[in-house]
Amino acid sequence: MRLPFVLAFLALAVPATAQNAEEGQALFRTHCATCHGLAATGDGPMASVLVIQPSNLTTLSQRNGGAFPLARVIQRIDGRDPLVSHGSPMPVYGDYFEGVFDVPVKTDAGQPILTSRPVLDLVSYLQSLQVK
Ligand code: HEC
Repeated sequence: MRLPFVLAFLALAVPATAQNAEEGQALFRTHCATCHGLAATGDGPMASVLVIQPSNLTTLSQRNGGAFPLARVIQRIDGRDPLVSHGSPMPVYGDYFEGVFDVPVKTDAGQPILTSRPVLDLVSYLQSLQVK
């Protein structure tokens, strides 16, 4: 029987904003700031040696019509975004961040996706940085 499982899954789905942005900031400083910069504006120390420049991560919402592109960002970090596996200089962190996708998140579009706790913490930190 799959239905009870699906229902339990939906009941667990939480908005990403409920996660821990402070944990996310610590993860960001350790794993992302070298390229994306301490302020996430895309000017980390490694940016000068990269051919493709790291994105400014404070304008993700702005560049997406004002809505935070939750699903895209999660899949970007955990490597499920096909762009990453096809030659982006951005490393894939899925395995590093536990490799288990056991936390359901509901995206704005309403479809739940699974991710891991550290990735969610990172995402809520990024959400807190968005410029208006
Ligand atoms: C080795 C350098 C490097 C590191 C480390 C890195 N990134 Fe990136 N990232 C990039 C580059 C370069 C791009 C832009 C090219 C692309 O989109 O693939 C990018 C793109 C992104 C995007 C897509 C932005 C958009 O406009 O859609 C997100 C989200 C992102 N990075 C988040 C992170 C997070 C979170 C971390 C830490 C877990 C991280 N990155 C670590 C280099 C890096």
